[in-house]
Amino acid sequence: MSLKKEITQGLGYSIVKIPNLVKFTKLRNVFLNKMGFDQNQNINVLRKKLALMSNIEINKVMVGLLNFTDASQIMIDSCSEIVKELCGKEILIQRRASTIFNLPGKDQRRQWPHYELMSGISPFTFVMWAPFHDLDDDGGVFYLSKKESYQKIKLEHSQGLVNGPTILNKMKNQKPTKLKFGEAIIFNPFILHGNIDFNSELARIACSVRFQSKHRPLMQKNSDFFKLYELN
Ligand SMILES: [Fe+2]
Repeated sequence: MSLKKEITQGLGYSIVKIPNLVKFTKLRNVFLNKMGFDQNQNINVLRKKLALMSNIEINKVMVGLLNFTDASQIMIDSCSEIVKELCGKEILIQRRASTIFNLPGKDQRRQWPHYELMSGISPFTFVMWAPFHDLDDDGGVFYLSKKESYQKIKLEHSQGLVNGPTILNKMKNQKPTKLKFGEAIIFNPFILHGNIDFNSELARIACSVRFQSKHRPLMQKNSDFFKLYELN
């Protein structure tokens, strides 16, 4: 099955090796520099520091990353062949890629199970998500298959619910996907996914970017979210 078929009609998501690892490593290094770290420093030092931060400190760091504007383009370029296969050359990409921290321990802010359409992107958008380090613990993201996601979403729609008990209870007994640095997950916007509590001394750091063909309708999201981009 082709990658496009797997993501749109099969499982709904796929783990890929990032084709241009040099570019993706550059992205991680730019991020480290923005965080006041040298690119040769072990990223685990930063992960440990983040894991001990209070919510207000984490918020400050995240707001500080709002000027990390070239991240989305570098991330797309690191996977340009894959993006082209999914959407063609003329695309809309998220204006600013999201850098996301997931902190260990109980009662941390978590992404409950959700699908991306809920945040107003079009049904033609894809998401690429990649950690900035090996993911050996449960700090990653769990994904439900397209089949199971559709079942849960349809059931709740029939009950007049959005994120009701059927979906929220999926937080239990999930196993987040483990990835190596240099791997990414690409998924369609109907796939349910989320985080669980995890134990570690290290926070998880990942980057995600959304993209779609410029020839497909944008639907709800306004044009502030995306920018036009053309792949070589
Ligand atoms: Fe998400």
